[in-house]
Amino acid sequence: MKLKIAVLPGDGIGPEIMKQGLEVTKAICEKFGHELSYEYGICGAQAIDQVGNPYPEETHRLCMESNAVLFGAVGDPKFDNNPSAKVRPEQGLLAMRKRLGLYANIRPITTFESLIHKSPLKDELVRGADFMCIRELTGGLYFGRPQGRSEDGTVAYDTCVYSREEIERILKVGFEFAMKRRKKLTVVDKANILATSRLWREIAKGMEKEYPEVEVEYMFVDNAAMRMIQWPNYFDVIVTENMFGDILTDEASVITGSMGLLPSASIGTYTSVFEPIHGSWPQAAGKNIANPLATILSAAMMFDYAFNLKEEATLIQEAVDASMSQNIRTSDIQVEGEKGYSTSEVGEWITAYIKNH
Ligand code: IPM
Ligand code: MN
Repeated sequence: MKLKIAVLPGDGIGPEIMKQGLEVTKAICEKFGHELSYEYGICGAQAIDQVGNPYPEETHRLCMESNAVLFGAVGDPKFDNNPSAKVRPEQGLLAMRKRLGLYANIRPITTFESLIHKSPLKDELVRGADFMCIRELTGGLYFGRPQGRSEDGTVAYDTCVYSREEIERILKVGFEFAMKRRKKLTVVDKANILATSRLWREIAKGMEKEYPEVEVEYMFVDNAAMRMIQWPNYFDVIVTENMFGDILTDEASVITGSMGLLPSASIGTYTSVFEPIHGSWPQAAGKNIANPLATILSAAMMFDYAFNLKEEATLIQEAVDASMSQNIRTSDIQVEGEKGYSTSEVGEWITAYIKNH
């Protein structure tokens, strides 16, 4: 198969982890006989510095012409600490989501037995937790207009907007995933307060008939946040709107013991994007200490979701599992008394495993 990939390393630790994700991708393509071509694009703070735009037209064109996008992270403290900055790295991410039509963000939450002791929750609560958050990514408060300030600056407003079409297509993703998994779908909303949530519920109820095998449950977001801590094993597939999904997936990510392990896929109308969920961690940039596993696992998701190449995806997962069980790990997830490996050491070990299996 011919695979054309856009590589967007971005800011902070982005370039270091992406290097490992890319090496793994190359090794897989070589092994399975795929013809890989890839091209780098700029985004985030790096792109603001170079061309004044966090998602330049040229980067967009590259993404549109590729079969998949591997994305590192964006963000830089120099913008976080300057509330009057007109352009921000995060705007690039939002522009990319909107322009590529990436309406579904898929974040799988799984536990590794050897990491359970790192979880802030008791072992017996976390063990076996395995669920998937489907977050709507191009609507709601993030994009609703009007947004702004009154003329005298004393009042600010955001708007939450969802159309039937936007709700239907994301719920469909939720139902389809539930069908492929344990057939349980939790629709998370705030229907006791919000009009948009009531429309979500109405539409979901209507769709239940099309998926008679799926057990559907409706849960208020505050309750879901609590349940996730008390009983993470409870969930199979969660589907929710943009802002609720943002908050719940950060919560979910730490349950497993390390944020450094969680990949994500954003899919929709045009080219899909695969990225680690941990962000740019600027303090660690250039130190070769960041955990490359979330990026490597994002590459696995790319083979699975963008190319439907299951064997390739499975081999990457297997290599990651092997690195964990042989304690070839970065310090954030290393067991006590064992040395922490560097970003490149972990990545190179995994690449070698792939070549040899
Ligand atoms: C995420 C991030 C982004 C979001 C930021 C960086 C804009 O937190 O992908 O979850 O809020 O969606
Ligand atoms: Mn977030």
